[in-house]
Amino acid sequence: MQLKKKDILDIESLSVEEINLILDTAEGMKEISERPIKKVPTLRGKTIVLFFHEPSTRTKVSFDIAAKRLSADSISISASSSSMVKGETLIDTAKNLEAMNPDIIVMRHSEGGAAQLMAKNVRASVINGGDGRHAHPTQALLDMMSARQKLGTLQGKKIAIIGDIAHSRVARSNAVGFSKMGANVVLAGPPTMIPKGVETYGADVTWDMDEAVSDADIIMMLRIQKERQENFLFSTVREYSRYYGLTEKRVKRAKKDVLIMHPGPMNRGVEISDEVADGPYSIILEQVTNGVAVRMALFYLLAGGSRDGDTD
Ligand code: CP
Repeated sequence: MQLKKKDILDIESLSVEEINLILDTAEGMKEISERPIKKVPTLRGKTIVLFFHEPSTRTKVSFDIAAKRLSADSISISASSSSMVKGETLIDTAKNLEAMNPDIIVMRHSEGGAAQLMAKNVRASVINGGDGRHAHPTQALLDMMSARQKLGTLQGKKIAIIGDIAHSRVARSNAVGFSKMGANVVLAGPPTMIPKGVETYGADVTWDMDEAVSDADIIMMLRIQKERQENFLFSTVREYSRYYGLTEKRVKRAKKDVLIMHPGPMNRGVEISDEVADGPYSIILEQVTNGVAVRMALFYLLAGGSRDGDTD
C-alpha cells in the first residue's frame, strides 16, 4: 500500500488505514536506527528543507536525523536566518523555496494554517511540524506508535490528556488521532484552558484530573504554553501544580502498568514530578526515539515508497 497524499498537514485528513500504514512503515524504519551504520540509500538525490519558524529540539533534530538516515540532502532554515526578518511574506518565501525544486518541505510556524498556506503554493510535499495551536500531526503519530508498541492496540484504551488543552496543538492532534484509532480520550484541565469547540476533538472533557486519570491506560501530560496565552489563566504555578500536576499518588489511580507520556519540553515540578517523569511507567524518551522512525516513514512514503518496499 502506498500513501496517496501530497502533504501531511493534520491528523483529521488521515484515514485509519493511512495511520496504520505510517505506523507499520515506521516499525520497519526503527531497525535502521539500531544498526552500527545508520544509513540507507533509499532517498539519495532527494532534497528536504526544514523550515522552522519557532523553536524546536525534538521535532527539528529528529526530522534532520530521519532525512540523513535515508540519505536525503537536508537543509535547515530558521526564522532568524531567513529573509522573512527583512519583510518577505510567507507566500514569497514558499515560491522562492519552490524555485530551488525541493522534494519535501517540513515547516513549523507560530501561526495556525501556515503549513496549509505553504502546501498550496508549492509542488513539493509539505509536512506540518507544528502550526500555532492548530496541529502537530507527526507528534500524534509518534505518540500512537509508542502507545501501540506497549499496548498492542489502541482500541478501547483510556487515554487522559491533561493540562493546557486550549493552546496545545499536541492535545488536538492526539485527541483526534487516538479517538480515530478507537481509544477513549478524556481531556482535563482548568476551565480557562479548555478551548471553545472542544466537542470536535471526539473526547470527553472534565476539570477534575483525578477523575480523568482513574483507570487510565495512558496519561499524557502537557506543559502550560505561556507563549500562546494572552491572559493569566491560573492564579499561581503552585496552585496549578496542586490540581493538575502528575504525582506518584495520582499515578496510583490509573491502571497498573499505566504509560506516562509527555511530548516535551517538560516543566518538571509543574505538570509532572521528577519521580513520575523518570519513573518505571514513563515512556517519554521512547516517544523521542520513535519520532525518528515516524519521520523516516513519512519521508519514505511521501517520496512514493510502499509499506513492503525495499529500503536496503
Ligand atoms: N514535542 C515537540 O514538538 O518538541 P519540540 O518543540 O522540541 O520540537
